[in-house]
Amino acid sequence: MHARGSISIRKVYQHSKAHTMASPLTCSTVLVLWLALVTVASAENHCSEHRYEHSLNTHHLQFTKEIPDREYGVLRQFKSLHCCGKGYRSIEWFKNNKPHPWSKDVSSFIVYPEAANQTIYSPRLEENDIGNYTCVLRNETHAIKHEIELRLQDNKPDNPMPTFRPKDMMMGVGESARFYCEAYVGNLYLPDAANEIVWSQMFDDHPHNVSDSVQVNVTREEGQIIGSYLSIPNIKAHHYGRYRCQIMSGNSAQKLNLSVLLSPVEVTTITDTQLSVLVYVMAALLFVLVAVFVWTCRTVQQRTGGKKDNRCSAQFIAEHESV
Ligand SMILES: *[C@@H]1O[C@H](CO)[C@@H](O)[C@H](O)[C@H]1NC(C)=O
Ligand SMILES: *[C@@H]1O[C@H](CO)[C@@H](O)[C@H](O)[C@H]1NC(C)=O
Ligand SMILES: *[C@@H]1O[C@H](CO)[C@@H](O)[C@H](O)[C@H]1NC(C)=O
Ligand SMILES: *[C@@H]1O[C@H](CO)[C@@H](O)[C@H](O)[C@H]1NC(C)=O
Ligand SMILES: *[C@@H]1O[C@H](CO)[C@@H](O)[C@H](O)[C@H]1NC(C)=O
Ligand SMILES: *[C@@H]1O[C@H](CO)[C@@H](O)[C@H](O)[C@H]1NC(C)=O
Repeated sequence: MHARGSISIRKVYQHSKAHTMASPLTCSTVLVLWLALVTVASAENHCSEHRYEHSLNTHHLQFTKEIPDREYGVLRQFKSLHCCGKGYRSIEWFKNNKPHPWSKDVSSFIVYPEAANQTIYSPRLEENDIGNYTCVLRNETHAIKHEIELRLQDNKPDNPMPTFRPKDMMMGVGESARFYCEAYVGNLYLPDAANEIVWSQMFDDHPHNVSDSVQVNVTREEGQIIGSYLSIPNIKAHHYGRYRCQIMSGNSAQKLNLSVLLSPVEVTTITDTQLSVLVYVMAALLFVLVAVFVWTCRTVQQRTGGKKDNRCSAQFIAEHESV
């Protein structure tokens, strides 16, 4: 994955050099071009970082990390969307059900083949780019898809806007869990202002540090989007309960709280399964009993030479059950 990154940076370098020689472009134009391409290059790395542990050593069709349901973009700025996956033969993108490539009046987004088409981007977001983007990944037999709603946003929003809400999980003791939360915070008004993102475990609505866990903060699109992974590698009984991801933007007083629940593997499901197994075993036993009974009756009737004496009676059952 690193190799890919360096390849595109080399390409970027050649590209800007070519331009400098071809026309008397100013340094700043080259710099802007270079920055835009470096942004694409870093977008390319997005799918190779923070992948699900279980995706690393499996090869079937799957998404390899959490994908936002909603994205925010700023007019006339760079914007990229990602569907990180693996095990696919093809990946197709649709905007409001229209397949890529799109005409200018549908969308200015283009696929980025260097990221194996998992990323689409617009170098300069236009008004008609807003809408629902769907990626469809296929192998020979299956297809998976994900929809991302793209909305326009001011680059200094009043409050953090959620882009990925953490999903509830059901896990057993000793297993691992990972939660993710993410929000669009835009650019900061003041240089010394800071954004913050913190995970807490909630006990009686009070936040506590999450013990035996790892929190990793990430940013995308030059810090306009911030996210955080909470990983619990070895779930113990005290880990069950509610967690809160709190996102504070340096621009606003309003904090965004995203809440999620970690619960044990449901106990009733297990007893239900056990119950049905028990019912099957009982039914099978009953069937065998009835079969044995019928067989015994017939043998007895044959021995008694078809006498009208019906031995298959309650008395017979009683005799045999008391044995
Ligand atoms: C396609 O993906 C599905 C689901 O991930 C998997 O079960 C199946 O084995 C894959 N088929 C092939 C041919 O790889
Ligand atoms: C990626 O997109 C290009 C251009 O649309 C297409 O030619 C290529 O087949 C795509 N690759 C995959 C793996 O879908
Ligand atoms: C995108 O999808 C959402 C819900 O799935 C819907 O409310 C919205 O109108 C859609 N937007 C467009 C532009 O189709
Ligand atoms: C993530 O950010 C929060 C504040 O924004 C900080 O308290 C926490 O230590 C950070 N975690 C890591 C692993 O950097
Ligand atoms: C939580 O951890 C931070 C540093 O990681 C520490 O400053 C703070 O005092 C801790 N809070 C509690 C309640 O233990
Ligand atoms: C999030 O929680 C904090 C403290 O628990 C609270 O002050 C704040 O108002 C909450 N934010 C929202 C948007 O409800």
